[in-house]
Amino acid sequence: MSFSRRLFLQSAAALAVLPKVAWASGRDLVAQTAMQQIAPDGYPETPVWSYGGAVPGSEIRLPQGARLQRRLVNNLPQSTTVHWHGIRIDNAMDGVPGLTQDVVAPGEDFTYDFVVPDAGTYWYHAHNRSVEQVARGLYGPLIVEEADASDVDHDLTLMLDDWRLDPETAHIVDDFDNGHDQSHAGRFGNLVSVNGRFDPSYPVQSRDRLRLRLINASNARIYDLALDGLTGWIVALDGMPLDTPMAVGESFPLAPAQRADLIVDVQAESGAIANLVSREREGGFGLVRFTVSGRTAKASRSGIIPLPPNPLPQMVLDDAPLYRMTLQGGAMRWLESAQLGKTELSGRELAQLGRFWALNGHAERPSEPFLDAQQGSAHRIEFVNETAFPHAMHLHGHHFRLILSDGSLGPWRDTVLVERGQTRQIALVADNPGDWLLHCHMLGHAASGMMSWFRVT
Ligand code: C2O
Ligand code: CU
Repeated sequence: MSFSRRLFLQSAAALAVLPKVAWASGRDLVAQTAMQQIAPDGYPETPVWSYGGAVPGSEIRLPQGARLQRRLVNNLPQSTTVHWHGIRIDNAMDGVPGLTQDVVAPGEDFTYDFVVPDAGTYWYHAHNRSVEQVARGLYGPLIVEEADASDVDHDLTLMLDDWRLDPETAHIVDDFDNGHDQSHAGRFGNLVSVNGRFDPSYPVQSRDRLRLRLINASNARIYDLALDGLTGWIVALDGMPLDTPMAVGESFPLAPAQRADLIVDVQAESGAIANLVSREREGGFGLVRFTVSGRTAKASRSGIIPLPPNPLPQMVLDDAPLYRMTLQGGAMRWLESAQLGKTELSGRELAQLGRFWALNGHAERPSEPFLDAQQGSAHRIEFVNETAFPHAMHLHGHHFRLILSDGSLGPWRDTVLVERGQTRQIALVADNPGDWLLHCHMLGHAASGMMSWFRVT
């Protein structure tokens, strides 16, 4: 049977009057495979997992207080969920399989729908088998705009990641459950990317002022960031504005999942190159180049105005109880024993099951919450790192304040770096009802034992 031209025209005309429903895909977040040039030109493309066909996934940008709606469509060969990192979110939208929702199986979908209360730099990423899914590229930036944009010439989001690529094929090495990585510092890559590309460069003018929104999407790498040809201030950490911006000194650390918003002025002259670099014991490496041409005609701005504060809870610590969370295990401090469910297993038995770490003696998310808090109550949590490695401890659904060594309250954060052997206290107002995860954001550590949770009712 042939499809006549007349019939074709008719049906095309009929289609044209149909409302665009299923096609309105602006609100879809499609988890899908893709090919991307991650390694330098001349290397093959890398097969990645992505939101919408590119890593990072498309930038979601919306005004403070707006409602975000995205239908996650899972076109991957593995179940997945999306976590909206750093958003003080409605618990049902937090994206944690087995705690706040079921996994979204291949071919299925799930609609996320929530309000973003705070302005700042956030990100979204997969939260099922994160050790694999984030390493394959399932992450993207989530930018919540202040009512008045900051006075800058460029507002740039820079998502840092490192990839473990086979140098021949540029394929991701798929040893995600590698026990050596998991029991040590975690999975490190051999190629660092910014916004999914190796060594990107951005054109600027001398004396430009830039806002740099830095997001560390790496599984385990802690960057030690420094500026070259730029002077700058940290104006926000983990999305939350600092009351007093901090001048960037020699360098500052950015642990997995952490963000830092910088305001920087381009000092380098036309023809030069300014750099964002990460320092390492053996020198370090460049992350981003800013190629300077010309000089802005605008008068250079002096001084830094803090960002407007977010509607965070009042912190009254008077007799807030102290809860201790001990970080245990890993290479060189191997667990003697820890609990899996209700059974106490020896360190050797745990290692055979791929569990190398424990939080307060539990080598997986325990059945009882670490902290059962009344809504609105204040708590101190003390992280005691007995291990030989640093850990980036992250609380879901809340920001907390660091308690500084002199007892005063430091910046608001959602992820705190606890160095080896260090003890760090935080102060938390448990004001968001629900069951919330608390874990190490070195994703291999989370997968091999460093996982807990707290309840707010
Ligand atoms: Cu960004 Cu539970 O994590
Ligand atoms: Cu860790």
